[in-house]
This record gives sequence, structure tokens and C-alpha cells, in this order.
Amino acid sequence: MQTILVTGGAGFIGSNFVRYMLDTHKDIRIINLDKLTYSGRIENIEMHDTDDRHEFVQGDIANKELVEYVVKKYNVDTIVNFAAESHVDRSIHGGREFVRTNVEGVQVLLEVTRDMGLERFHQISTDEVYGDLEAGGFATEESLLVPSSVYSATKAAAEMLVMAFKRTHDTPVTTTRCTNNYGPYHFPEKVIPLFITNLMEDKKVPVYGDGGQVRDWLYVTDHCSAIDLVLQKGELGEIYSVSARNEPEITNLELTKTILKHLGKDESYIQEVEDRAGHDRRYAVEGSKIRELGWKPAVSFDEGIAKTVQWYKDNEAWWRPIKESKELGSFFSVNYKIKQNEEGKAEAVRA
Ligand SMILES: NC(=O)c1ccc[n+]([C@@H]2O[C@H](COP(=O)([O-])OP(=O)(O)OC[C@H]3O[C@@H](n4cnc5c(N)ncnc54)[C@H](O)[C@@H]3O)[C@@H](O)[C@H]2O)c1
Repeated sequence: MQTILVTGGAGFIGSNFVRYMLDTHKDIRIINLDKLTYSGRIENIEMHDTDDRHEFVQGDIANKELVEYVVKKYNVDTIVNFAAESHVDRSIHGGREFVRTNVEGVQVLLEVTRDMGLERFHQISTDEVYGDLEAGGFATEESLLVPSSVYSATKAAAEMLVMAFKRTHDTPVTTTRCTNNYGPYHFPEKVIPLFITNLMEDKKVPVYGDGGQVRDWLYVTDHCSAIDLVLQKGELGEIYSVSARNEPEITNLELTKTILKHLGKDESYIQEVEDRAGHDRRYAVEGSKIRELGWKPAVSFDEGIAKTVQWYKDNEAWWRPIKESKELGSFFSVNYKIKQNEEGKAEAVRA
């Protein structure tokens, strides 16, 4: 029986992956290690409490002693790493925790994989490592990494560590770089769930700049099936880009109009806000390498967005307490100004 340590498995994609793997494979055990930061929610996985194939451990991937203990105790053979600080807006206003989790944490997981002789370490990366792409151009696995934000810079740094461990120690690694995901359990600070829930609350939706940014939205279970396939058939040391290749490409403004339509609202609900600092204009990934392994997305954008809107309608009890939480409130706004406070220290305040 395969025993997978899923790190960050209480977050958006991680919890969907845990569910996908438990549903798809009978003979599997998932050990779910998550620090439960603001975006990690025990509610995302509590339905597996009665399944003895799933075990939850609260803890930090950067704590080597703990990771070693968990790997030994549960006889783990594979690590799939989702754990990360994942929100670009947060990385603009303070990036240290991004470096600790996204870089140091990955170093720890790689050391444990090497030292304890695990069969595989799989790193979940992002298409954001490619940075901005010109209209018409597509990134491939060979493209240069030109990250624009602290978030994507730390994800690129992690990938470099993964490749260095392969080259130096022949550590058994694979990596997937996926485009933007959406679907159930997506934390409502990210654009799609933020907009759906704002409209359900009869609030406006903040669109950055002219809304012309292009993202290639992939429904979350399609990302899960791609990872599952790479675990089974991916070649060690290889990187696989995972993309929906939506045609035509979807700008943020078009995405917004689609969501407005689903919620029965007109364009007066659009609130233009100043563009995010360093905002990438377009992400686009070619993605034929994973298609050659036999993967393709099963859920179209139209179908996926309808399912997602329905999920947020059916699950108000999940997102309302999160949006009402004071600690998170400021991050639902997108405009900040840096000001000096009374003690002379710089602080980010809502504009
Ligand atoms: N969301 C996307 O569109 C997207 C696209 C491509 C790749 N990714 C990558 O997928 C992964 C998951 O993204 P997500 O959107 O589900 O993020 P998320 O913020 O919803 O989940 C991250 C999870 O990691 C946990 N975590 C954070 N720091 C930790 C630590 N030090 N130790 C243990 N657990 C920790 C959090 O508690 C949370 O459960 C990330 O690595 C992200 O870079 C995301």
C-alpha cells in the first residue's frame, strides 16, 4: 500500500487532492501534514475523520525533526508538497514567511526524502515562475524562469532546490507547474471566490486596473488528476507544466462578467481599483508534455465556473465565518499605502 505524506493538505488544492486520491485509489494511505495557517482549514478535511486511510497531523514542514518523526511513524514512501504561502497580495506586504515555508520548508522535505530513502518527492509549483508572457507566446518546460512577485520568486527558488537535489544526490523528484486553479474550498481572498461571495453579499467586486490580465483557469480536480498521473507515470527529474489551454483566452474582465452573469448582477457591481504592484499581464503555458503522458482536462471553464458558483451558494456556512473574521478583513481590500505610524515605523494601511 502506498503511503503519501501530503503537506498543505488542509488548503484549497491540497484538500481537493486528498479527497481525489481517497476517492480514486482504494489501496492508499494519506498522512496530511498542515500548519493550519489562515488559509488551512480543518473544515476542508473533517469529512475524512472516519476514514482510517487518512491521518491529520498539525505541524510545520520547516520543522525537520517533526517531518522525520511523521515519515518514520507512518512509514511514508512519497511526499507531495502543497504547503506554501500562496497569496501574491500578501507577499507584497511582507515576504519572510514566504521564504521560510516555500524555500526552507522545501529544503527540509528534500533532505528527508534523501536521508530516509523515500521513493518520491513531488513539488507543486506554479506557472507564475515563468513571469509575464507576450501575447501569442507560450511557456514550455524549457523556458527561462522570470518570477515577478516574492511569491513566485520563492516558488522558483524551491524548484531550483528540487533540481539541485536531483543532480547532486539523485533524489527521486518530479515537479508540476500548474496554471491558476478554481473550485470548491478556494479561500475567499482569491479572485473567483472573492467575487462570487461579494456578489452573494450584494457587494461590488474590485477589478485590478483595466482587467486585461490573462489567466488560464483550470478546475481543481483536473490539477489533481494531473498530479496523480505524474506520480504514476512521470519520469524522475522531470517538470510537467499543467494548463487548461482555454480558447479563447480569458481576461480578468471577462472572468468578472461571467461571474456577474451567474449571480444575476450587472456591470455596475464592477469597482475599478489601482493595479497590483508588479502585476503580470499574461500567463500562458504550452503544456503538451503532460498531454503526451495521457492527461487532459475533463472540466470546461463554463462547466467549472457553474459548479463553483453552485458550491459557494450551497456552502455559505464554510465561507461566511472566514469573511467575517477580523484578522482577514484587510486582505479582502486590494489597495494599500505605506505610511509612517506614530512610532516612526512603516506600516501598510488600507487606502
Ligand atoms: N491556487 C492556485 O491557483 C495554484 C496554482 C498553481 C500552483 N499552486 C500551488 O499549489 C499549492 C497549494 O496552493 P493553494 O492555492 O491550495 O494554497 P492555500 O493557501 O489554500 O493552501 C496552502 C496550505 O499550506 C499550509 N501551510 C502553509 N505553510 C505551511 C507550513 N510551513 N507547514 C505546513 N503547512 C503549511 C496552509 O495551512 C494551507 O493549508 C501551493 O504550493 C501553490 O504555490 C497554486
